[in-house]
Amino acid sequence: MKRDGSKGALSVGPLGGAEAALPAPTRRIIEGENLQVVAALPAAFARLIYIDPPFNTGHEQQRKRIRVKHAADGERRHGFHGRRYSVTRLASPSYQDRFGDSYLDVLMPRLEAGLRCLTPDGSLMVHLDANEVHYVKVALDELLGRDRFMNEIIWAYDYGARPRTRWPAKHDTILWYALDPRKGRYVFNYDEIDRIPYMAPRLVGADKAERGKTPTDVWWNTIVPTNSREKTGYPTQKPLSILERIVRVHSNPRDTVLDFFAGSGTTGEAAARHDRGFVLVDSSAEACAIMRSRLAAWLNGAHGAPRDA
Ligand SMILES: C[S@@+](CC[C@H](N)C(=O)[O-])C[C@H]1O[C@@H](n2cnc3c(N)ncnc32)[C@H](O)[C@@H]1O
Repeated sequence: MKRDGSKGALSVGPLGGAEAALPAPTRRIIEGENLQVVAALPAAFARLIYIDPPFNTGHEQQRKRIRVKHAADGERRHGFHGRRYSVTRLASPSYQDRFGDSYLDVLMPRLEAGLRCLTPDGSLMVHLDANEVHYVKVALDELLGRDRFMNEIIWAYDYGARPRTRWPAKHDTILWYALDPRKGRYVFNYDEIDRIPYMAPRLVGADKAERGKTPTDVWWNTIVPTNSREKTGYPTQKPLSILERIVRVHSNPRDTVLDFFAGSGTTGEAAARHDRGFVLVDSSAEACAIMRSRLAAWLNGAHGAPRDA
């Protein structure tokens, strides 16, 4: 997009008039390899792309699930009055997260294909951790131009094991790029930002303390609690509250949000809850089954949503 003087390698305009091909907002889950699926989507239909790809941790991501049942001859005896329990390992959704040195070769073509789908005032959010985020930042700066880089959002949490040999890694990073970074040319709904408590409320006066403050680029937020209604059982599911904040601030009602590493469909739920459409893509049949069930109410036209699966 040369008109804003960007120095990046990617040209995202003109848009070719394909915007009308998807009704707004659509609500769709597509099972398939995202490179092919995204290339077949129309241009410029999404105001926001959020992706949470595998982080290249070097192992398979699987959330181990077990069923524990009372059984007189069970192999475990942990209960009240020495009650015995049998423990069954359940089939658990999983996905591969081993890419070695080829991570950028896998991710970047998919990002390029996805960027075609963004409106000229759209935003791209890429959720990663310290394994790959620095390499992806440099690659995206080259592709889009450094002037389109807006924020590095740190999602900090505090849960799980703490190794004694290094600082426990307890944050993810979300890179935000705006296709048109000029003031007023991208969506940033300041008034939609949720308020958080002041750290020292007594220093700011009662009114301000009551209202709370807007968060910075460091977002403290718990992971999805193990026994919460939100938990779907899909590995590495992201908290709905994080996605709701992103959707509210970086898109408008009736816009469409695209996520082509969709997993359990957190982006879709956040979009639907705030009257946005969604297009969710995942190659895993298990992920798509979870999404269909999680988003059934919206896919079936409840909550005022159009029917479109
Ligand atoms: C980190 S998970 C996404 C989790 C999601 N944000 C959530 O809250 O549940 C990454 C997803 O990308 C999917 N995936 C990986 N490679 C893919 C590809 N080439 N095409 C489509 N989906 C892919 C995996 O199946 C997995 O569900």
